Amino acid sequence: MLPDSFIQELNAKNDIESVVSSYVSMKRRGRNLVGLCPFHGEKTPSFNLYPETNSFYCFGCGAGGDVVTFIRKIENLSYIDAVKFLADRVGMSMPEQSYNDVTAKQRMRILEANREAARLFHAFLYSKGGRAGLEYYHSRGYTDATIRRFGLGYAPQSFDFLRSELRKKGFHDEELVLAWLCARSKNGRGIYDIFRNRVMIPIIDVRGNVIAFGGRVLDDSKPKYLNSGDTLVFKKSNNLFALNYAKQGKTDHLILCEGYMDVIALHQAGFRNAVAALGTSFTADHARLLSRYTDEVVLVFDADNAGQKGAQRAIALLRDIGLRIRLVTIPDGKDPDEFIKNNGPERFKLLVERASNDVEYRLIELGKRHLLNTTDGKVNYLKEATELLAGLNSPLERDVYLGRLAADLQVSKTALQSQLSYQLKRRQKQQQDKQFTQVIRHAEASTQKANPDAKIHVRGAGAEEGLLGAILLNPDYLTAVAPLLSPEEMVTPFNRKVYEQLLSRYHQGLGIELSYLSEWYDPDEMAYITKMVREARERVSSLTIEEAKRYVSVIKREHQLAALRQPSELTPEQIQEKLNAMKQMKK
Ligand code: UTP
Ligand code: MN
Repeated sequence: MLPDSFIQELNAKNDIESVVSSYVSMKRRGRNLVGLCPFHGEKTPSFNLYPETNSFYCFGCGAGGDVVTFIRKIENLSYIDAVKFLADRVGMSMPEQSYNDVTAKQRMRILEANREAARLFHAFLYSKGGRAGLEYYHSRGYTDATIRRFGLGYAPQSFDFLRSELRKKGFHDEELVLAWLCARSKNGRGIYDIFRNRVMIPIIDVRGNVIAFGGRVLDDSKPKYLNSGDTLVFKKSNNLFALNYAKQGKTDHLILCEGYMDVIALHQAGFRNAVAALGTSFTADHARLLSRYTDEVVLVFDADNAGQKGAQRAIALLRDIGLRIRLVTIPDGKDPDEFIKNNGPERFKLLVERASNDVEYRLIELGKRHLLNTTDGKVNYLKEATELLAGLNSPLERDVYLGRLAADLQVSKTALQSQLSYQLKRRQKQQQDKQFTQVIRHAEASTQKANPDAKIHVRGAGAEEGLLGAILLNPDYLTAVAPLLSPEEMVTPFNRKVYEQLLSRYHQGLGIELSYLSEWYDPDEMAYITKMVREARERVSSLTIEEAKRYVSVIKREHQLAALRQPSELTPEQIQEKLNAMKQMKK
């Protein structure tokens, strides 16, 4: 448990505004700040910062909490690691003995094992046994400087290379299995190296940690690539290869391509802003990650079927989050690596500069699906094309394409214009509906996770939320509330736990701000608690001790009702008696 004084200093030095601003661009609105939520895709900002309580809340997805919860969620860290992250950020040292969380230690060990493994693979590449690997890289045109820069290596044909080297360095079998470097043998007794006879590409995160590996065979055998599975330090859908280098570049766009080898070839050719997804298809998390570092993504996908499908998917996800997109299709069905090898970097640069944006690409694709020399075909094409244009955010952009469409198909621009405004209205309506159901669903989902009983005891939980929110804003209410309501009378177990904790801290003379609670609750629970505070704050003008007392009486009544609903030993007469007593209370 961390001392309150430490938490207080941590919060004072890590104000929510400056912490969040390095991930999301925020605009001031009154006392608060708003921006686009980093935890779900949205186009209109519903992500709010409250400097007064050093907390955040998203009306779209229901995420919320204190500054530590924010870091837990966005950096995917445990509570204690998030605290450490923030402490490091402002040069505070952790209180002694606090940093002994088991998983925190495991993560650290995995990172250490990975770093050692990367060193060993790299050293082996340049040893006598590593000839084949080195020749492979050289045959692909990679220079030694590139090999060093990316820390490329080679895993020998051995079940026991890493295992024995890392054991010598003090790593336990369990740690090597957790790191996804070794696997347990079938009989469960021993462990063996997972990566054998493969050229090894370390995956490095934006903080410089080696978090995983990709390994490629040297010939045509299968599987071509073997990638680390998810571990405590690595989530495939959440990391991009070479982002650690690409984010340093000063270009206004990032290049997204399909393969590790493409990225390495591009960097060697001077395109240091290239990244790739890691042995998996592109996800919404990837899109969000990219949006933290750039406004424009240039997609370079292979011309084959799989590549084009991947491009479509990525386009949809990148568009959803509001990034500008341009598309490069490599001629002759090659991938960027081969293209550069055959044609040189200058030609590739031209491809990037001339890359059309995805609207053109999609209009062309759409055109292919209709017979444009028939009236029906033309009409259908225009319908779908205006629908597509209605999805563009910029009116200027819409107008440009509308003009081009009209000219291409020799129809009047005014006619298209009215078709477009119809589509725009339709789309707006659709989005509103979608957003509404999403908001409801998300809010329900986060409450559901934190306090599943709220669904069964709607009124009781509602009153509890009202009361707890009021108390969190006005701790002094507890003086009046504590004698009236004992924790056992709370209807839902989760709220009971929160109330209990608030009471106990209050009686000890300790503060009950969100930041002190964060240690005890996971991010979903923190979101739920933050929602209570936020809702209480919205009613702040009318929030009085009287209101708090009204909640108390609702809770007491609901508690009794809930008890009655339980199968019980009571006789019908006893039940009637209780009901009468409750009626008295109501009056
Ligand atoms: P490609 O098959 O296009 O590979 O797969 P590549 O990058 O061009 O590789 P080279 O040039 O043949 O060496 C693209 C990406 O898909 C993932 C890898 O991340 C690869 O970089 N992949 C592919 C796998 O994870 N496993 C596989 O077996 C194949
Ligand atoms: Mn390739």
